[in-house]
Amino acid sequence: MDDRSKGRLTRDGIRIFDPSDFAGMHAAGALAARILDEIAPLVLPGTNTGEIDAVITAMVNDAGAISATIGYKGYKHASCISVNHVVCHGIPGDKRLKDGDILNVDVTVIVDGWYGDTSRMYVAGDVSRKAERLIQVTHDALFKGIEAVKPGNTFGDVGHAIQAYVEAQRMSVVRDFCGHGLGRVFHAPPNVLHYGRAGTGAVLEPGMFFTIEPMVNLGRPETKVLADDWTAVTRDKSLSAQFEHSIGVTEDGCEIFTLSPGGKFHPTWI
Ligand code: MF3
Ligand code: CO
Ligand code: CO
Repeated sequence: MDDRSKGRLTRDGIRIFDPSDFAGMHAAGALAARILDEIAPLVLPGTNTGEIDAVITAMVNDAGAISATIGYKGYKHASCISVNHVVCHGIPGDKRLKDGDILNVDVTVIVDGWYGDTSRMYVAGDVSRKAERLIQVTHDALFKGIEAVKPGNTFGDVGHAIQAYVEAQRMSVVRDFCGHGLGRVFHAPPNVLHYGRAGTGAVLEPGMFFTIEPMVNLGRPETKVLADDWTAVTRDKSLSAQFEHSIGVTEDGCEIFTLSPGGKFHPTWI
């Protein structure tokens, strides 16, 4: 048996891992989170996103780990860096950050075969009140989703908690991208939607590993992908934010694999 097919699959095709598998996910998640902690001081007006990505690549290599994104469907970088109205999958490059820019940095590493996938928001210089509120609501939306994760609840409960919270703040949840199962592969069932109806979808069970990674827009939810085939932007050019954790369902809730070792997950905590 290939070691990627450990454990059993539910009728929805979701893998159930063993309690002993949590340690590998914690190790991978901790490296991804530490990388996001350490790049925080680099996020300044004048830095370009390619420089941030180069530091991330070096950190992955120095840790003896593997970047999950380099070579993934032809992607060439160790991170996605999504600035302002870029929703996700922004390609690092030579564009310099400007005062007031907000950005998501998303890193996925492989440690001993286990995947750790996390992203968070950063700000370059002084940011507008509107952008600050978007970041706060997106952060809190992720945690509304995480709070709904416990055995017996459904994936619809998770999506509903996120959507209800975001829409009550008069912002919108992106529908075109979702979270995903992971473990010894990058993307596995289920699709973890960030919207939905309570009580619908697959039932959560201990041993499920997946990401929750809501993207929230100040304007409308629609997105489009640019000609580079990666960069997803808001159609109405409104600002977008995203936070992502990798988590594992336990007997009474969940464990977050990608907690910030320095307590820096939110830009105002840095
Ligand atoms: N890390 C992203 C996710 O959360 C996926 C990035 S794929 C890439 O699932 F190729 F664009 F890097
Ligand atoms: Co992900
Ligand atoms: Co990610």
